[in-house]
Amino acid sequence: MANRSWGGRFERDLDKKAAQFSASVDVDKRLAPQDIRGSIAHVRMLGERGIIPAEEVRRIIRGLEAIGLEVEQGRFHWDSAKEDVHMNIEAALIDKIGEVGGKLHTGRSRNDQVVTDMRLWTREACHFTGSRVAELLAVLAVRSAGAIDILLPGYTHLQRAQPIRLAHHLLAWCEMLERDRDRLFDAAKRMNLSPLGSGALATTTYEIDRRATAKELGFDGITRNSLDAVADRDFLIESVAALVNCAVHMSRISEELVLWSSQEFGFIKMSDAFTTGSSMMPQKKNPDMAELVRGKSGRVAGHLVALIVLLKGLPLAYNRDLQEDKPATFDAFDTVNACLEILAGSIATAEFNSERMRAALAKGFIEATELADYLAVRGVPFRKAHEIVGRLVRLASKQGKHLSRLTLEELRAEHEGFSTDVYRALDPETAVERRRIAGGPARARVKKEIAALRKRLQRSGIDVDRTAARFGAKVSRPD
Ligand code: ARG
Repeated sequence: MANRSWGGRFERDLDKKAAQFSASVDVDKRLAPQDIRGSIAHVRMLGERGIIPAEEVRRIIRGLEAIGLEVEQGRFHWDSAKEDVHMNIEAALIDKIGEVGGKLHTGRSRNDQVVTDMRLWTREACHFTGSRVAELLAVLAVRSAGAIDILLPGYTHLQRAQPIRLAHHLLAWCEMLERDRDRLFDAAKRMNLSPLGSGALATTTYEIDRRATAKELGFDGITRNSLDAVADRDFLIESVAALVNCAVHMSRISEELVLWSSQEFGFIKMSDAFTTGSSMMPQKKNPDMAELVRGKSGRVAGHLVALIVLLKGLPLAYNRDLQEDKPATFDAFDTVNACLEILAGSIATAEFNSERMRAALAKGFIEATELADYLAVRGVPFRKAHEIVGRLVRLASKQGKHLSRLTLEELRAEHEGFSTDVYRALDPETAVERRRIAGGPARARVKKEIAALRKRLQRSGIDVDRTAARFGAKVSRPD
């Protein structure tokens, strides 16, 4: 049996194409560190329970550690004829220490082995990506502090709506991303139970100690049902769904970067370091990085769909289909990690054009709500005030001027409630400052939110200023 493990039952080799088709080592060799850790925990426990003699356990562990080192240093020879990461490592172990290496697999199946590896890998990946999200948050915290005095229109329907502080807008991005990070941490927590000992589907007759291996591998406990443990990959759907949320948030942020850096908006200038030129038009400076972050969200969403469809309709327990969980999961994490890094650099180094943002406030009658509120607090029912101001907007629009340029007589012709103090209410700064309730854009609120965000990040171990500086943000001491 040249190309078959456990060939005893078979009369002929696996078809060459079938072998190629089913080999997964090119992808799952990424699980080698987790696989080796899991194997060491398993064999150590076998020794402690007296299932394998201590001396053999020592030899197996030494062999596995040597293989781990070879993998780490890129010296390990991966052989696709040996199908997957598990069989490559087991074969290398037997090669190294002889037949006794075959005892490693006592009381274990590749089915509980692979899902243990995946839980370990994904747990780590969630924490890694969560920390990358926190770095982007650090960049945004620093950029927000520098954007407190910058006013710009807030939009609905992409129409200028009401004035806000740029810091308030950036803090909205932070809210989205903080939830993404927390979702990843939540997913890592829920998956953190050890499936090891579930065997192929119905555990094992050996008196193994599942809690011991769980503890050694940093799991919070053990899974309750062996069939479920080897069959489900809901923890991957959950983590990749968290990634999709994050990717979609990054895509929306990128879309705003693209819009804002257009000549039509001109609100920001992206750094040369994160833009590209055109092969034909010399004047062009394209926000390709932001566009790619936007585009890659589709790819991440595709991986989620792949996982969902993969599981739908699978009977319990393990089915080989499940091997397809890895390319989707790995690429979803890789893609989001890359996007987070690029976005952090893009935002850290972008220049805000506060004049253009301020100028955008002068057009579009975004102080109309202020005018309606002005009448409303003076006893005019808001619906009526809305209509009166609507007429004033029409009048100003006809005369081609700003609402604040309407004379007092013109205002009073619509309603006698207007007096000279109305002009102060029309100042965007006043409009923003009057929105000082929780969740609002007033200076004091925004400052408090930035301070609170910084504190949350510092508490989770992020040096906010240092991190932002590492991505190229200019850090001025917050007051
Ligand atoms: N490479 C396989 C996977 O990723 C490992 C488990 C194989 N188990 C089996 N019964 N064929 O799912």
